[in-house]
Amino acid sequence: MSAEPPVRKLNSHLFVCLNERPPGHPRGDCKSKGSEELLLAFKTEVAKKNLRTEVRAQKAGCLDVCEHGPSVVVYPDNVWYGKVQLSDVAEIVEAHLIQGHPVERLRIPGK
Ligand code: FES
Repeated sequence: MSAEPPVRKLNSHLFVCLNERPPGHPRGDCKSKGSEELLLAFKTEVAKKNLRTEVRAQKAGCLDVCEHGPSVVVYPDNVWYGKVQLSDVAEIVEAHLIQGHPVERLRIPGK
């Protein structure tokens, strides 16, 4: 009888909306606002900070806060970020995921 491999427990999941809509759609979408590059930047930053055993950055479908896109949510903290830019990635990883302090200026009001 072989032992089961240990279950990997992540501390945080960071979801980036990669939803795409046709051009001109009234709700817009996060992908056309650069969320694919954003997800790649989060993955790169998580790896650079050696956080891959604690944090997973991954794609999500529409998070239903399209007007705030590119949209990001961090669980289990339930912290929602809007209009996230590539220049914000290192700050979110360092301040929120490492230090535990969400980046207030990027939070979506009311979420
Ligand atoms: S398209 Fe990204 S939140 Fe809806």
